[in-house]
Amino acid sequence: MKFFIDTANLKEIQEAYDLGVLDGVTTNPSLMAKEGIKGADNIRAHYKAICNIVDDNVSAEVIATDFEGIVREGKELAKIDSKIVVKAPMIRDGVKAIKKLTSEGIRTNCTLVFSPGQAILAAKAGATFVSPFLGRLDDISQDGIELIAQIRNIYNNYGFGTQILAASIRHTIHLVKCAEIGADVATCPLKVITDLLNHPLTDIGLAKFLADHKKVNG
Ligand code: E4P
Repeated sequence: MKFFIDTANLKEIQEAYDLGVLDGVTTNPSLMAKEGIKGADNIRAHYKAICNIVDDNVSAEVIATDFEGIVREGKELAKIDSKIVVKAPMIRDGVKAIKKLTSEGIRTNCTLVFSPGQAILAAKAGATFVSPFLGRLDDISQDGIELIAQIRNIYNNYGFGTQILAASIRHTIHLVKCAEIGADVATCPLKVITDLLNHPLTDIGLAKFLADHKKVNG
């Protein structure tokens, strides 16, 4: 399973990368705005800075919502660095643009996916990644984890190569359940990644080992 970090914060990206478990980054316009990144030049420079930290897979989202605009913006984003994956929304023109960008060798991430039918369309269009937002489904009392399982099953049935990028992950149980189902990627905030470290028995066990060592060795 690949781990992506869902943030545009360079410090957090560096921290996750330094942990040695990071395979990529997902951003979106809200996350970029949260970091105060504005203006085309600054946005490009920020994506470049992210690419300079990680080895691959930096999702950069288009703002355009029409076919020509998404393709144009996608191509511009892809020029920033070979690590860029163009993120486009699950709308009619987004699907068409994903097909076009894919045919030109540009990797894509189909975002804002909330149903198995949308995931089928993303795969048919040739998206590199599909991003089902499981936390946002949970927020409206629908089962986000069930959606991941449905997409896994459908993609297995037909051998679709699109990677399932489980998104909107809120806690470690989400992440572990996605791993059990076989999601290809999980993208989550830094805290979810570092929370995986925690178990009280680890802390108790380590304290005991060190205390026993000290008794004998001083
Ligand atoms: C994924 O690519 C999105 O950026 C993200 O996971 C959305 O998560 P949220 O629902 O916590 O905003």
